[in-house]
Amino acid sequence: MITRAAITAVGGYVPEKILTNKELEKMVDTNDQWIRDRTGIEERRILDKDRATSDMGVEAILNLLSKTNYSAEDIDLIIVSTVSPDYVYPATANIIADKIGAVNSWGFDMNAACSGFLYALRTGSQFIESGMHKKVLVVGADKMSIRVDYEDRNTCILFGDGAGAVLLEPTEENGIIDSKFAVDGSGGNFLMQKAGGSKYPTSLETLKNKEHYIYQDGRTVFKFAVKGMADITEEVMKQNNLTADDVAYLVPHQANKRIIDATAKRAGLPDEKVMVNIQKYGNTTNATIPLCLWEWEDKLKPGDNILLAAFGGGFAWGSIYLKWAY
Ligand code: UT7
Repeated sequence: MITRAAITAVGGYVPEKILTNKELEKMVDTNDQWIRDRTGIEERRILDKDRATSDMGVEAILNLLSKTNYSAEDIDLIIVSTVSPDYVYPATANIIADKIGAVNSWGFDMNAACSGFLYALRTGSQFIESGMHKKVLVVGADKMSIRVDYEDRNTCILFGDGAGAVLLEPTEENGIIDSKFAVDGSGGNFLMQKAGGSKYPTSLETLKNKEHYIYQDGRTVFKFAVKGMADITEEVMKQNNLTADDVAYLVPHQANKRIIDATAKRAGLPDEKVMVNIQKYGNTTNATIPLCLWEWEDKLKPGDNILLAAFGGGFAWGSIYLKWAY
């Protein structure tokens, strides 16, 4: 019998404050119609200034735990994927563990930009499959509003704040079956935060140049994203002999509705088999995929074939095939 890792619970959190396209019209030279047509986004959530990424991660985990018979003390490991950690160090996972009272857990952060949640999910699954752990929390959380320049219309319309969490446990049927990942570091310059790392440490100059905000060459990233996400999803389908009829849902990273549509089209999947909530939350980076699972949880059935897919900065992309377990 092969031990697999299955998602056995999901939690999510989005801040109450809504930032609409209409409100953005007053901040930058943009308009509601352009944003809807080019991205599919209608509004996004913004976290209060005095709250951090860990606070959203905690909310998502508490929501998750409330649906189980477990307490935080039962958790063995917490992996947090984020590009907006509370601090450069310590890891946000440690802060979350402390806040929820996960006294028997260890943890660490991961960063694979917009694909981070899939990378973290696959990493977490290894600890289950190896038999090392029985309960692993994988959290995708981002306060993108701190990374966004609200004077830059190229990026400020895209992003929002949120967090999602899943619990991984051992199973002998269903669970995570297969995956494929890729990176292309030569694409790194097209989507990045230029300053604040060891190459360009924070200085008055970097602050003046606004290099602590997201820089994106949208058109180039779009081109690579459409191909990368569709290719890798198709490859995972092929290597598991899955046809569109076999697939219950595609759960794509929510960066642009047009990228989602292109991936779904290539996979031959109709709209009703594609999870989309970009219109409400925009691109929450590491939270997009778990927030979709959170919203669709009630519709999922044991044995459903689910394909997760993401593309983002790095470039880093990937797809996971799993069978829903509950
Ligand atoms: O999650 C991580 C991965 N990221 C992505 O996958 C994002 C990939 N990229 C995209 O989603 C799209 O490229 C964007 C949504 C960022 C931009 O859409 P686009 O269709 O590629 O637009 P564009 O950059 O080619 O710009 C088209 C026009 C330009 O005007 P001209 O040069 O044609 O006169 C822009 O200046 O739209 C203009 N424009 C805007 N107009 C109104 C750019 N941003 C805006 C705006 N409002 N916010």
